[in-house]
Amino acid sequence: MSSTTSRALFTWIAESVAGGESSYARLRAGGQLVMDRAEGARIHDVDGRAYLDYCGGYGVNLFGHAPRFLLEAITETMGQIGVHVAYPHRLAGEVGELVVSLVPGIEQLRFAASGTEATQAAVRLVRAATGRDLILKFEGHYHGWADHLCAGLGAASASRPATPDSPGVPATALDAVWVLPFNDVEALREAIAAAGERLAGVILEPAAGSGGLIRPAAAFLEALLADVRAAGGLVVFDEVMTGFRLAPGGAQELLGVTPDVTVLGKIVGGGLGLAAFGGSRELMRLEAENRVVHGGTTTGSPAALAASRSILTRLHDRPELYETLETTSAALADGIERAFAEAGVAGHVRRVGSMLQPFFSPRPATEPLTLAEVAALQDDERFVAFCDALEECGVIGHRYPLGRWFVSLAHAPADVDETVGAVRAALARIDVQPVTG
Ligand SMILES: Cc1ncc(COP(=O)(O)O)c(C=O)c1O
Repeated sequence: MSSTTSRALFTWIAESVAGGESSYARLRAGGQLVMDRAEGARIHDVDGRAYLDYCGGYGVNLFGHAPRFLLEAITETMGQIGVHVAYPHRLAGEVGELVVSLVPGIEQLRFAASGTEATQAAVRLVRAATGRDLILKFEGHYHGWADHLCAGLGAASASRPATPDSPGVPATALDAVWVLPFNDVEALREAIAAAGERLAGVILEPAAGSGGLIRPAAAFLEALLADVRAAGGLVVFDEVMTGFRLAPGGAQELLGVTPDVTVLGKIVGGGLGLAAFGGSRELMRLEAENRVVHGGTTTGSPAALAASRSILTRLHDRPELYETLETTSAALADGIERAFAEAGVAGHVRRVGSMLQPFFSPRPATEPLTLAEVAALQDDERFVAFCDALEECGVIGHRYPLGRWFVSLAHAPADVDETVGAVRAALARIDVQPVTG
């Protein structure tokens, strides 16, 4: 099929927009289709081709693309008050109440305009509250692109202090950040001991969405919560990706633990630039009394809050939606694995709720615990070739080999069947490793 218009438009965009994309992650993923419209589970490019979409607005679109209720909520509010006013609005309290009722770790919150900003504010809060500077983070855990956490994304990137992942990040910005291997209780305990009175806290993704979907082992999580707190530090869960996706209360609800600070993004704003961070009332007094600097011109705009309220109300009132999402996601993972088996391809699917990723290798006997272990399970070249072939067969999934596809509530059983059919067709087009080969 032709994608002539897309190619021409992308080239034209890239004349004025460096790289043709305004995100390193999207540029790295390599998608050059220019999109025209989207609804539900489907997205349409400018050449008139429709795709079942599993990029899901990079995790924003839990209800699929352009749900009517969301558009109506935004336009109704904008009709009354515009996009942004920079005064308090009742929607702030309504969304605040909804988040507090849903997320166990949040008694009070502040809004921000992006996950990166909210994460930055959370780390600043933790440092201010403890009067200490040192933050521990983990290999493969992404917390946005700001200088102070732009480190430790690759395997074997553990270092003290952290080393920058990007030119332009001064090493001094990371003086007070250490990157540790994940799920390594010994390394964690040793670092806590070495940090001593400097330890302000630890930040982690409860399921590493950009690092192979690794979850914390039970013993590791227990040690982390107990030992960091015993040493006077605070625990931050970055739930920008997992919040409202894995459960109404996010990963913390599933894990049955309550972090000191929670960061939210993506789903909470329905794509309109809303994120949040919060914790106990006691901790948030620092924000309430304005003793720590946090701001932003457009934080908590009525339009974004209207989007948020429309989404969170549904999640609050209909927790059974998560059962539907789980059923669809499990069916898709099973279907892809069946297609692998039928094609005689060594492959498996890693899945955490509605985040899933096909891997081109047999399922390992034990769950991988580190980024290096999970990276060894992926055949990057085949995975990308598979995504390319799949796109030709009418399905788009994120191309990053250690990323994840997002299933949405708009994906119906028939969409799953169609996707599995496309997976079969895509596997037949690429040079794949046979199970025994
Ligand atoms: C876990 C996590 N934290 C932080 C961020 C940064 O959020 P944003 O892209 O809204 O700045 C992301 C974005 O993907 C994320 O997945």
